Amino acid sequence: MNVRQVFVSLLMFGVAGLLLFMYLQAWTEEQNTVSGEKLQQQITIQDFMLPPPETQRRVTQSSHIPPVLGRQEVAIMDSQQWQGKADLFGAVAVSLVPGLSDHQKISKLPFSQFKEVYLPPVLHPLNKTLVTGDQWKDVDSIQEKRRSFLYEFCKKYNSMKKLRTHLVHIVSRIYVEDRHKVLYCEVPKAGCSNWKRVLMVLNGLATSVRNISHDDVHYGKHLRKLDSYDLKGIYTRLNTYTKTIFVRDPLERLVSAFRDKFEHPNSYYHPVFGKAIIKKYRHNANKEALETGSGVKFKEFIQYLLDSHRPVGMDIHWEQVSKLCYPCLINYDFIGKFETLEEDANYFLQLVGAPAELKFPRFKDRHSSDERTSAEVVRQYLKELSKEERQLTYDFYYLDYLMFNYTSPVV
Ligand SMILES: *[C@@H]1O[C@H](CO)[C@@H](O)[C@H](O)[C@H]1NC(C)=O
Ligand SMILES: *[C@@H]1O[C@H](CO)[C@@H](O)[C@H](O)[C@H]1NC(C)=O
Ligand SMILES: *[C@@H]1O[C@H](CO)[C@@H](O)[C@H](O)[C@H]1NC(C)=O
Repeated sequence: MNVRQVFVSLLMFGVAGLLLFMYLQAWTEEQNTVSGEKLQQQITIQDFMLPPPETQRRVTQSSHIPPVLGRQEVAIMDSQQWQGKADLFGAVAVSLVPGLSDHQKISKLPFSQFKEVYLPPVLHPLNKTLVTGDQWKDVDSIQEKRRSFLYEFCKKYNSMKKLRTHLVHIVSRIYVEDRHKVLYCEVPKAGCSNWKRVLMVLNGLATSVRNISHDDVHYGKHLRKLDSYDLKGIYTRLNTYTKTIFVRDPLERLVSAFRDKFEHPNSYYHPVFGKAIIKKYRHNANKEALETGSGVKFKEFIQYLLDSHRPVGMDIHWEQVSKLCYPCLINYDFIGKFETLEEDANYFLQLVGAPAELKFPRFKDRHSSDERTSAEVVRQYLKELSKEERQLTYDFYYLDYLMFNYTSPVV
């Protein structure tokens, strides 16, 4: 071989290597995304303590597989039927469709992000024909204020931010009640167990809210989630059902989640989150703490929460409401607050025509002897943090504070 041949073969070798490298890079990224999703799924499935039995897990996973935009759905969304009537989601889907071949629609859409879609918020009037009596006047006027407050906020906010999230992900925390046409987005630690009980009664799955155990509420696969329907099913419900969300002061919710998951024995949060948190943030941790993951301190939990390289992922109990329920995309008709839970919930039940005898339950079903997480309890926990940590924690929930008009704590 002469010098030239050697040079050419070295060059070829280099190019081949580079191509192989690029291919491997793309491949590993894909694998990472997949395993990231898997992890997320596991966390979502297991976030109610007990690991579900194998069969249940399979069912849940398959219901998480994003539906594919088939020709039929595309045709439905393009047709007259959807023009004008289609709410935000019609807009998202339609704007996604042009420019892709059918093959791409099928193979690519569920896994790609929605980009550069501007979604104007809408404020539909609440249908109050089923409300009787005038004891609801005050609750209603507060409700109208909250609705227009969120609407005004979203008008400003959406124009700055383009949608970058998966449709199926956006609706994945929403429960469906078909009889009274209700969609309820679950915010843990803001009355969600009792809400699920009420939905089960509305749906005829139980006769009374009283005798549905905590386990039945969370592991019984009775209520369907919106992401388990096909696209048409999702759009129809989003556009015709009464959509509600119940929120809570962000730091009260956070402290409540911490107390519930880390201050009581827990066979999921201690080994999965507790161990990782103690390992990373506690210097000189003893062997027992490292092995059990029990005894996480609030300060350590906050260090984990604020860490951009968290050793374990997020969890729905402390995830921001803005990322669980997408309040600026879904156009919730009704915004309830934990602080006024019973009156809001009972007014909502009137709006959707629930049976008169069904009232929102008052009871706290877990750790019922513990004091409720009040503003005073929160103050005690915040004392463990530095001024900077308090500020960063507030910043972390900044959007939740803004959207629902919660006043910032004195940091
Ligand atoms: C309001 O609700 C009532 C009772 O469910 C229904 O008959 C009526 O059509 C609704 N009105 C509108 C404008 O949707
Ligand atoms: C927002 O919160 C402030 C302070 O609590 C309150 O005075 C105001 O009425 C609230 N605004 C709305 C629209 O609820
Ligand atoms: C709940 O209690 C009522 C009466 O106490 C009973 O008729 C009903 O079967 C119970 N439901 C369940 C799901 O246990």
